[in-house]
This record gives sequence, structure tokens and C-alpha cells, in this order.
Amino acid sequence: MKEKIRIVEVGPRDGLQNEPNIIPTDVKVAFIDALSEAGFEEIEAGAFVSPKWVPQMADSDEVFRRIRRKQGVRYSALVPNEKGLERALEVKVDKIAVFTAASETFNLKNINATIEESLNRLRPVVSNSPVPVRGYVSTAFVCPYEGKISPSRVIPVVKELLEMGCEEISIGDTIGKATTEDVRTLLEEVSKVCSFEKIALHFHDTYGGAVKNALVGAEMGVRVFDASAGGIGGCPYAPGAPGNVATEDLVRAFPGRTGIDLEKLAAASQIVRGYVSEKRVKAQ
Ligand code: HMG
Ligand code: MG
Repeated sequence: MKEKIRIVEVGPRDGLQNEPNIIPTDVKVAFIDALSEAGFEEIEAGAFVSPKWVPQMADSDEVFRRIRRKQGVRYSALVPNEKGLERALEVKVDKIAVFTAASETFNLKNINATIEESLNRLRPVVSNSPVPVRGYVSTAFVCPYEGKISPSRVIPVVKELLEMGCEEISIGDTIGKATTEDVRTLLEEVSKVCSFEKIALHFHDTYGGAVKNALVGAEMGVRVFDASAGGIGGCPYAPGAPGNVATEDLVRAFPGRTGIDLEKLAAASQIVRGYVSEKRVKAQ
């Protein structure tokens, strides 16, 4: 029997953070509660970032207070600094995700810090976190400002995040431009510094290549993939990052291996469908 694939549902965070419409807190809570019934072990439910930078996530505290927590589901959130950690712990987040990038320009635009500054900022966050920490490396293949990023720029960031105590590293194709060859090449380099047990792959689906890339990742031994219900999403500081790979597409790409109930997932996607811009949600 083929090994289990774990899908981390990032729709409530990556899916909604870039949405121009205001999504009512009630709708976010209902969306997450419905996702909780679909079989995910982990749902990234919000972001404790600056509300001036990402207004859509300003109500994450409220969202975490109001969701119905299902046993066996970890509810995680993005944390950019110590203030974010404080806010996350206040509302009992189960796991945090810190984030940096392999490209300097993207990092400056996204978090107003160079890669080195961001790593220095994250070190105390990771070491003071009483809950497990995921570390994201964005623009690991292509940067919207700098173009192609070589693995030699990604690997040192992966190593730093692991050394500071991240238990999992999510490698991001932030604007969905990685090819299957890029995925192979980077994963070969990653395998020299870290077991794939600690690696997640985070594909955006701008050019329709995300499922193929995930299949290559799985063939090479990665077992965790991020996805967003209905394919909604994108990063506000990465022009050209429309949506994460749709969770529905990954569930179908790995039949019988994800434990996700497609009908319950469709019911969850339906809750936000009417609130997100048409072009940001993939027809299923
Ligand atoms: P800054 O302006 O340099 O920070 O932003 P600052 O420390 O000078 O603070 C500015 C103001 O923000 C202050 O308020 C702080 O108190 C407040 P003021 O005094 O002006 O009233 N502030 C906060 N408020 C609430 N919670 C906080 C917080 N921190 C500061 N945690 C900062 C630096 C990192 C805060 C900012 O740039 C930021 O929040 N950026 C987040 C951007 C973001 O969320 N991007 C999307 C997520 S990343 C992504 O999507 C990629 C990913 O999906 C993977 C992939 O696809 O590759 C993960
Ligand atoms: Mg993303």
C-alpha cells in the first residue's frame, strides 16, 4: 500500500489573505469549522501579522477564539515576530509558522527585512515558542522581482531554519512558476541537508503545474503538501501569485492516500465561494 499523503489546508490563511473583498469573521469561522470535518490533521487558520500590512488577517485573534476545535486537528497560524507569537499564544494556537524567503527583494517587500534580518528576528520566536514551529521558505524557485532562484540560495535558509528549531520546512513556489525539473533539482539538494520527513511542499498553481510538481515531490519521497480549498489565494506582496493548488486537485491526484472527504471539502469550499472574487476561485 502506498504511504499516506498529508495535506495541510492553508485556505483560511493563504486563500483569504489576498482577497480584496472583506470576508466576515463569521464566514471564516464557518469555513474553518467545515474544513475541520473534512479529515485534515492541520489547518492554517490565520496570520498574526501586522493588520496594516495584511488587513484581511486582522481578525485572526477573533477567528481562533470562535472556531470549534475538533480533536485530532492542529490549528496553526503565521507569526512574523515576537508580537505575533504573543498574539498567537493568547488564543491558543497549536502550531506556528514563521516565514522568510530565498530572495532578498521579495523578503523586503513582504516583511520589510533582508533574509539575514528576518532570520535574526525569527530566532527568538522559534526558541521561545512552546508549540511546534513550521518554517516557510518562499520564492524557493522563482521570485517575482529577481527571477529564477538557484538551490544554492535556498539551502542555507533551510539549514538556518532547521538549526533554530523549526520541526518542519515548507518550501514555497510562491508564484507557481516551478517546473518539474526545478522541483527535482531542488529536492536533490535538500536531501543532502535534511530528511524529507521534515519537508512540506507549497505550490501555487498560476500556470497549472502544481499537481505535476506535487507528484514529482511525492515520487521523490515528500509526504506533506499545502493546498487551499477551491484553489483560492495568493500572496499580496507577490504579484502573479493567484492561488494555491486546489485541495480538491491534490486529493484526486493521490487517490485513497489523503484521508480527505471530497464531499465535505466541497461543502467547506462552498461557504467561501460567494465571498471571494470570481477569478480567485477555481471551478471544481
Ligand atoms: P514593519 O512595518 O517593518 O514592522 O513590518 P514594525 O515592527 O515597524 O511595526 C509596524 C507596525 O505594525 C507597528 O504598529 C507594530 O506594532 C505593528 P504602529 O506602532 O505603527 O501602530 N505590528 C504588529 N501588529 C500586530 N501583529 C504583529 C505586528 N508586528 C508589528 N505581529 C512586519 C514588519 C513583519 C510586521 C510586516 O511586514 C508584516 O506583518 N508582514 C506580513 C506580510 C504577510 O503576511 N505576507 C503574506 C504571508 S507570506 C506568504 O503568503 C507566503 C507563503 O504562503 C509561502 C509561499 O507561498 O511561498 C507563506
Ligand atoms: Mg503561499
